Amino acid sequence: MPEKIHQRFDEALTLGLLSSPVVDKHVAATSNIKKRKRLLPPQSTVPLTSKDSPRVAGDKPEKPGSVISRTGHAGLKERAAALAPARKKLPIWSHASTICSGLQDRDVMLIVGETGSGKSTQVPQMLVEEPWCRTQRLCISNQSSQEPLPNSVNGSRPESLQIGGRIAITEPRRVAAISLAERVAQEMGTPLGSSSPASTVGFSVRFNNCTSPSTRIKFLTEGMLLQEMLRDAWLRDYSAVVLDEVHERGVNADLLLGFLRGIVTGKKEGRGGAVLKVVVMSATAEMQTLEEFFEQGFLQESAGEDPVAHEDATAKIDLPDAESEWSGISSSDDEDEGPRGNGGEGPTTSPIQHVSSCHVEGRQYPVTIHYEPKPVQNWLDAMLRTIFHIHYKEPLPGDVLVFLTGQETVETLEKLVKEHEKDMRADVPKLLILPLFAALPQDVQQAVFQRPPPKTRKIILATNIAETSVTVPGVRFVIDCGKAKIKHFRSEIGLESLLVKPISKSAATQRMGRAGREAPGKCWRLYTEQDYLDLPQSNTPEILRCDLSQAILTMQARGIQDIYGFPFLDRPRREAYEKALMHLFQLGALDKTGCINQIGSQMAQLPLSGALARTLLAAIEPEMDCVREVIDIIACLSVENIFLKTTSEESKEQAETARRAMYRREGDHLTLLATVQAYAAENTDRKDWCRRYFVSHRAMKAVMDVRKQLHSLPLFGKSLSTDPSERSVLTAELSACVRKCFIQGFAYNTALRLSDGSYKTVAGHQKVAIHPSSVLFGKPVRAILFNEFVFTNKSYARGVSAVEMSWLEDAWKEPGLEDG
Ligand code: CDP
Repeated sequence: MPEKIHQRFDEALTLGLLSSPVVDKHVAATSNIKKRKRLLPPQSTVPLTSKDSPRVAGDKPEKPGSVISRTGHAGLKERAAALAPARKKLPIWSHASTICSGLQDRDVMLIVGETGSGKSTQVPQMLVEEPWCRTQRLCISNQSSQEPLPNSVNGSRPESLQIGGRIAITEPRRVAAISLAERVAQEMGTPLGSSSPASTVGFSVRFNNCTSPSTRIKFLTEGMLLQEMLRDAWLRDYSAVVLDEVHERGVNADLLLGFLRGIVTGKKEGRGGAVLKVVVMSATAEMQTLEEFFEQGFLQESAGEDPVAHEDATAKIDLPDAESEWSGISSSDDEDEGPRGNGGEGPTTSPIQHVSSCHVEGRQYPVTIHYEPKPVQNWLDAMLRTIFHIHYKEPLPGDVLVFLTGQETVETLEKLVKEHEKDMRADVPKLLILPLFAALPQDVQQAVFQRPPPKTRKIILATNIAETSVTVPGVRFVIDCGKAKIKHFRSEIGLESLLVKPISKSAATQRMGRAGREAPGKCWRLYTEQDYLDLPQSNTPEILRCDLSQAILTMQARGIQDIYGFPFLDRPRREAYEKALMHLFQLGALDKTGCINQIGSQMAQLPLSGALARTLLAAIEPEMDCVREVIDIIACLSVENIFLKTTSEESKEQAETARRAMYRREGDHLTLLATVQAYAAENTDRKDWCRRYFVSHRAMKAVMDVRKQLHSLPLFGKSLSTDPSERSVLTAELSACVRKCFIQGFAYNTALRLSDGSYKTVAGHQKVAIHPSSVLFGKPVRAILFNEFVFTNKSYARGVSAVEMSWLEDAWKEPGLEDG
């Protein structure tokens, strides 16, 4: 590593350790270093105990705030110093000057680098002490913006405004945002998220804001930054936004790219003209596509077009009708495959001028790949065999990372491995089996970072969450089922479902790569080589396969006037926009003229899907008055499955008998309610209660978490803070109200029984059957409401409740909406 880089690293490290709250821009950057050094607290001479010994990658992360209470600031600094040598070796550091100087000259930087090269942890630390990252106090002369300025009192417009000082780093997943914040706080020797002025690192994920006024590096999920943008479209708190893991291409990332392009290329009136630096980081994304995307924004701006309108917070949109022209896009022939890279605005003609880029090489050891000789019929069985093959044949240390499709397959395999583990010879090393999927409670997720005890092999059973988001140390062996659960919206029937689909070549490469981070590794692909060759090169971005209602609601709440002209990296089809607008209209989020109304604005601000947000808002209405009950059900729905899966007929019968006390003849929603409330009221041994009722204790802990956080939403003020173990008296009236609220959110997920006993959805005329997991399975009712559309060997409605015909008539009474 060249000397200059060492110096930069040391500087960043020193500054990181000494980070103070935001400082004024007038403080010269150079004199800062010396001044801050004088502010250093005296070095601690307290030796580290073994308990306090510096953490290395893979140690169990501390709970926020726990480190400082135990070791004080000196302990934190020593930990940071112990991590420094490993940090210095990360490939990203040999690009530090390219990154920093690139961002001094230009406002957009693209960084492409292999997973593990140090992008997420090091880039924020490199940037935070750059001169442009100071808080600026600016005089606002521009009066064109209609938005109230953030520090205005009684509507009077202030003369000066504080801008920037913070860096936001967005992650597609909660687990990544939290674990990265913990790691960066350790590396910088600062307590995480605390209100101590020394705390410069924090995180914000749904229902959990761990930041303070002194936070300068803030990791947050993409959804949380979108929420912040609803409160402050100009992101005035920030000097830079770093979009991490853009290769995942979730809808939220695509929305952020569009919004940020608007800010960075526009006049920034709301920021008093202060620049916002944007860094886009990715493991695989096409650099040129992103470059063209941003350059196109600059080009439009210089041509006098407004890339994204910011001013009008009550923007009006035109609801499409059958005759309407596709605004901005003329031919319907190109709807499926719009030109990529510039939001469908045609090829870039100008030379690249505003965007810097940097390619960081990976740190990858060779990985040997094993393919199956012929297609595998039962891949769970193949997984089990491969896990034990590795365990018996491969040396320790060497943990195993297994890629599965979802909670259900993870839990099934977990059970199978545990059963087979019992038959292992006593002289064989032990197994530590750890599940890892999005719906797990935070502490269970964090357990995968633990180092296993001696003579033990860690087996991590994960969904694609571990593909790029999370770095699990110690992994040398990967088993890849070659599939993943992906969201797919079928616009013709207006329903979204999760489908198990083959992954892309690029995802397979990412999965394989996890085996070669620390040493040469091995990867077992449970599919044939030909199957691999037949995989598509990359995943279809979510924006092209999901229901756009949420995205459109966010755009409208953010004041975007021309939603069709929004600069998406990949343009969704016209039909998808139309369906989404109709859906929003049906949800009551738009008024008759197509403007977002109060309900729509409230929905956009709730940390829930549109359907659930609408349901919750309905429950607050005085004539419904069932908000506690609806919250309990929503909390359950946020966890994939609370009931334990039974494997044998015998255990299935036992479970049925045990759970009968909770079953409600009205259906699954009220059964979930009864289960949550029975669990919450249990105050002796909840774990034992779960065992008796075949309920997942792990899932229930996550449900309780979400429930508590929903109770504390600002929407409710203090009215919900009564006894959490109180059980509802489920009268017929209350039961009806709860289901009516769900109909308000899920009218598209309602169906009527046909003469042959099957069901047809009201909106899309799609045939569905009641899923065998439902309490209404085999118990025909006239009309149903369902939570989820599942397509396996046939179309199923899952999470089903019986509803009255008259309730459906009420939900669909808006003229012209009968057929979606
Ligand atoms: O973003 P990218 O995948 O390029 O790398 P990173 O997340 O910054 O990780 C760089 C290194 O930091 C990893 O290889 C791990 O050694 C370490 N790390 C860790 O120990 N714990 C974390 N939560 C994150 C990173």
